[in-house]
Amino acid sequence: MRVLVTGGAGFIGSHISRVLLEANHEVTVLDNLSRGRQDLVPDGAAFVEADLADEGATEQALRGHDAVIHLASFLEVAVSVEKPVLFAENNIVNSVKLLEAMRRADVGKIVFSSSATVYGVPKRLPLREGDELGMQANPYGATKVAVETFLGVYHTLYDFDCLVLRYFNPYGPNELCEPETHAVPNIVRAMLEKRSIPVYWKGQQLRDYIYVEDLARAHIAPLDQSGYHVYNVGTEVGTKVIDVIETVATILKQEPQIDDLGERPGDVDASYASSEKLRTELGWEAQVDLEEGLRRTIEHYRERLGISN
Ligand SMILES: NC(=O)c1ccc[n+]([C@@H]2O[C@H](COP(=O)([O-])OP(=O)(O)OC[C@H]3O[C@@H](n4cnc5c(N)ncnc54)[C@H](O)[C@@H]3O)[C@@H](O)[C@H]2O)c1
Repeated sequence: MRVLVTGGAGFIGSHISRVLLEANHEVTVLDNLSRGRQDLVPDGAAFVEADLADEGATEQALRGHDAVIHLASFLEVAVSVEKPVLFAENNIVNSVKLLEAMRRADVGKIVFSSSATVYGVPKRLPLREGDELGMQANPYGATKVAVETFLGVYHTLYDFDCLVLRYFNPYGPNELCEPETHAVPNIVRAMLEKRSIPVYWKGQQLRDYIYVEDLARAHIAPLDQSGYHVYNVGTEVGTKVIDVIETVATILKQEPQIDDLGERPGDVDASYASSEKLRTELGWEAQVDLEEGLRRTIEHYRERLGISN
């Protein structure tokens, strides 16, 4: 299949592009490099530097493709609170521009990177695809709900095939946020640099950490689906932040220093997935457990930060 990956020069998109090539798909990455890096685009993928705001450029890049995997967006939650209009424009309006460009270029299939955030505060765990969507505590979450809704519109009006993947907590090599806001890279970087680890809620929050290669593989089978489907992508295991810290400390044989940042309003206590639907309908399963994923992530940061011990 000929697949165009928006945001394919970023953290998750670069892994997806590589996995697609390994599965013998043809890949075009479209990215404006606002966050991504061209050197993360794997050899063998075509690269188009373009902004989704430019509908004409997107339409031209799309011609001849069979499907889109759509990751391009902004994702720092705190920035979304400060700049809701920027997030609405880049994440919602530019997604609608992409859908319009797809319609004109006659590409009718899209796999979308959504997030567990759409569930809001979970009423029960594990979270299942049929659970009600919750009230959003920040503009980033609202953009994911909005794009899921627009995909429903394009399915209804134009019969687009729309596959919504709700990611839980991806981690692994090549995460790019600066400043880093996600738990795993913060923990690994702080430990490697022998700094104290910034920790909210004394590390008691429960999350579902999914290794990025497992997440990337979850995009393959949906390409053969038609209709409108939603799938959670998680490991189905909830792990406390403090347990991630202890696992990293054990791997590094190092005592962790905690910088207790207290409570952070708006955070959810506990969130983990049921991925039963993805397992039973599409045969996907997470293969990399947390300890192995953290080992690989530590190796990556050692190399990236030039730290040998
Ligand atoms: N990383 C996570 O924890 C997480 C969790 C749930 C969902 N997601 C979603 O997964 C997707 C990818 O996230 P990531 O962590 O790889 O982020 P990332 O910032 O590494 O990648 C996003 C890419 O999109 C590109 N981009 C942004 N706006 C663009 C535009 N207007 N036109 C073209 N390119 C544009 C950036 O340059 C970047 O390369 C996002 O949609 C994000 O919301 C991420």
